[in-house]
Amino acid sequence: MKKVDDFRLKFGKQELVPIMIGGMGVDISTAELALEAARLGGVGHISDAMVKTVADRRFHTSYVKEKLQRYKFNVANSDKSEVQFRLAQLAEATKLHVGKTMEAKRGSGMIFINCMEKLTMNAPKETLRVRLHSALDAGIDGITLAAGLHLGSFALMEDHPRFRDAKLGIIVSSVRALQLFIRKNVRSNRLPDYIVVEGPLAGGHLGFGLDWAQYDLATIVAEVLQWLREEKLDIPVIPAGGIFTGSDATAFLEAGAAAVQVATRFTITEECGLPAKVKQEYFRASEGDVEVNQTSPTGYPMRMLRSSPSIGAGNRPNCEAYGYLLDAKGCCAYITAYNREVEAHPGVRKVSVMDKTCLCTHMRNFDCWTCGQYVYRLKDTSHKDADGNYQILSAEHVFRDYQFSTENRILLPD
Ligand SMILES: Cc1cc2nc3c(=O)[nH]c(=O)nc-3n(C[C@H](O)[C@H](O)[C@H](O)COP(=O)(O)O)c2cc1C
Repeated sequence: MKKVDDFRLKFGKQELVPIMIGGMGVDISTAELALEAARLGGVGHISDAMVKTVADRRFHTSYVKEKLQRYKFNVANSDKSEVQFRLAQLAEATKLHVGKTMEAKRGSGMIFINCMEKLTMNAPKETLRVRLHSALDAGIDGITLAAGLHLGSFALMEDHPRFRDAKLGIIVSSVRALQLFIRKNVRSNRLPDYIVVEGPLAGGHLGFGLDWAQYDLATIVAEVLQWLREEKLDIPVIPAGGIFTGSDATAFLEAGAAAVQVATRFTITEECGLPAKVKQEYFRASEGDVEVNQTSPTGYPMRMLRSSPSIGAGNRPNCEAYGYLLDAKGCCAYITAYNREVEAHPGVRKVSVMDKTCLCTHMRNFDCWTCGQYVYRLKDTSHKDADGNYQILSAEHVFRDYQFSTENRILLPD
């Protein structure tokens, strides 16, 4: 019986354990988690989402405080178009986060950064360029382009000396999105080094509509593999979303995938950035507690626990401190929804906003409990202690379980 460890992800001459831990925004996939994946010979991800906040937490810098002070005058203003990121600081924070992580890297694996196009930051092109260049400057092994079609992202990096040496990949949810990306980038004479195919059961934002349940990861992966064969393109394909056991992963590898990307099983590990109490919420979740809703202002549906404190919270937009989702005109769908509620409820001190959420604030505070569909199976991966809490696992334990388990078995901790 085959297991994941019988396969290898190959990048040129380099061979890796074909397990990639997916990026989980705003420091849920911490440097510690990514470093473990690399130490064990696989691929780990950090994320550049809200990197200034992450740097402040990790390195005691004060980027957020400074930005808030600069724009304090605008806090009560519903127009946020003035709130801009200072590109030099964005570069500095990214280099700190990436550089310190790469310095600590041990083992034969790799560390990539997840870079979401939807973080438009009131100047989409300029800020994305700085994020990409700074990550490359700081020595990241690779960049995974996420949450968006990224039709212009290769062009933004083309003039970087590491454009052809760093591993660059894209997340798609359909063969069509992949075709668009590859056709658009023919000019750069550079193909992606890997393609993550993310299906409808993933955590975070989904590349599907609310009809997500009608799609199936194995079918999309087969379509992508078929198209690549027809085009004679040899690019590693990495399925993601709902791959819960080593056997699930092995089935994809036997069908022609080069590796798998997994995330939800690592949300309850010591190295994951979620607070201990939230990890227990993930363990306790039942299937009925999981929903896909449209509260994210990005316009993409998002999967989360129904009990997420972010839902209906109604806090004043925090764009002066954060503002990562402001579009090129300084707008965010949450601001619109919030202003509508404030107008409809004059004199009410705290409104509730049900249709959208202030995602920056809530992701920053770990109050948007996004998860993969199979979060409700996490309880089967650990023991429940006498106090009702589940035992937290190590990332190494979960990684090894994916790597070596067979027959859909899950290795429980001692
Ligand atoms: C808590 C959480 C946060 C996530 N955040 C991001 C993110 O910031 N960017 C991204 O591209 N994908 C994100 N994802 C998706 C994962 O990287 C991964 O592709 C997917 O969840 C894999 O499916 P699985 O969780 O069923 O293993 C997130 C997933 C989870 C569970």
